[in-house]
Amino acid sequence: MTFDKIYQYNFPTTIRFGVGASKELGDYLIKNNLSKPLVVTDPTVAQLGFFKEIIQDLKRKNISVEVFNDIHKNPVKSDVYKGADTYDGTKRDSIIGIGGGAALDVARAIVLRINHREDLFKYDDLVGGDVFVTNEVPHFITLPTTAGTGSEVGRSAIIADDVTHQKKILFAPKLIARMVFADPVLTMDLPPFITAATGMDALTHNMEAYIAKMPHPLCEGIALEGIALVNQSLEAAVNKPDLESRSKMLIASLMGAVAFQKGLGVVHSLAHPLSQLLDTHHGLANAVNIPYGMEFNIKGFEDKFKRIATTLELKEKTGEAVVKYLFDLNSKIKVPHTLGEIGVKQEHVETLADLAFADFCHANNPKPVNREDFRQMYQKAL
Ligand SMILES: NC(=O)c1ccc[n+]([C@@H]2O[C@H](COP(=O)([O-])OP(=O)(O)OC[C@H]3O[C@@H](n4cnc5c(N)ncnc54)[C@H](O)[C@@H]3O)[C@@H](O)[C@H]2O)c1
Ligand SMILES: [Fe+2]
Repeated sequence: MTFDKIYQYNFPTTIRFGVGASKELGDYLIKNNLSKPLVVTDPTVAQLGFFKEIIQDLKRKNISVEVFNDIHKNPVKSDVYKGADTYDGTKRDSIIGIGGGAALDVARAIVLRINHREDLFKYDDLVGGDVFVTNEVPHFITLPTTAGTGSEVGRSAIIADDVTHQKKILFAPKLIARMVFADPVLTMDLPPFITAATGMDALTHNMEAYIAKMPHPLCEGIALEGIALVNQSLEAAVNKPDLESRSKMLIASLMGAVAFQKGLGVVHSLAHPLSQLLDTHHGLANAVNIPYGMEFNIKGFEDKFKRIATTLELKEKTGEAVVKYLFDLNSKIKVPHTLGEIGVKQEHVETLADLAFADFCHANNPKPVNREDFRQMYQKAL
């Protein structure tokens, strides 16, 4: 890091974290004179006991609730348009996102859409669309139900094109939730596979952010502690969940998202094309790719990997030991070691390499990467 420049560091919003935090939602709405929220979730979460309880509790408090859950696994633009139409049609005054990254991203994109009615992708951050996010946005509240993306504290929404499935990033500082209720109880019954995949997404955020090239000591500190928390809790959260492991994973995932304002890297660039081409879950795509992506990054960044190895309390303080740790962790939480096991075929490799190279995340990778590097990483992981 050089000290002859000015850096910008942004930190998130008010977070109520802990067992029972979700029970504060009703009183928070009343205190803020909000009585007609649009609750955005996905069709699975909408059927879960805790979700129904939250809705009943709001209704008991005379809050008029409209639930919108018509969204895809990898959300698309038309999901956002439908949600915004529901908001308008039922005259809502606020938006509450309850769910995993997919539901929270749709909720955040609806927040944008309410007073920004140009084509949604005009606001795509990658083409400078954030400058058009100039109007007021509705009061936005998030309640995460997975421990992975950390989207509850994010300022961006990842939404895909309905036809091409290419993911676009809608970003603006004002899209951050005004209030986050992070209640580990909501994650207690997550199935093992989703716990593993989302948990590895959280670990990837913390690790990629830690090594990402932008100088940011605040985020680096958060990322290392995030890595330590995942190390202490992911295996237990998958195989023998209790409140402690669920709590540690929930805060670690939130920390990952705070840390990755510093940037991500090749692992996310390897992962995004798998969702685009094969509809692979985002966390699973990261989980399988992270050992290969980290291996690529070791040379030239040995000091950073030494810090990660120290944080993980590994005997050998090397990047190679970190890579071995990642494969071993995947085994313990039943994540496959190869892309072949999650449906990738030899014939996909060239297209995947094109898409990964076109992806935005590797711009912050510590080491420059080209298309051939991506092809080789996919080939090795196959
Ligand atoms: N905005 C960001 O910064 C950001 C960062 C990374 C990823 N993402 C996006 O987030 C999405 C992935 O999010 P995710 O990993 O949380 O997965 P997800 O939202 O797709 O949820 C995974 C599955 O778990 C189910 N589920 C959620 N909570 C549950 C609970 N408590 N109990 C039982 N089942 C539950 C969901 O219904 C879904 O089937 C992707 O669309 C990705 O692009 C966004
Ligand atoms: Fe991610």
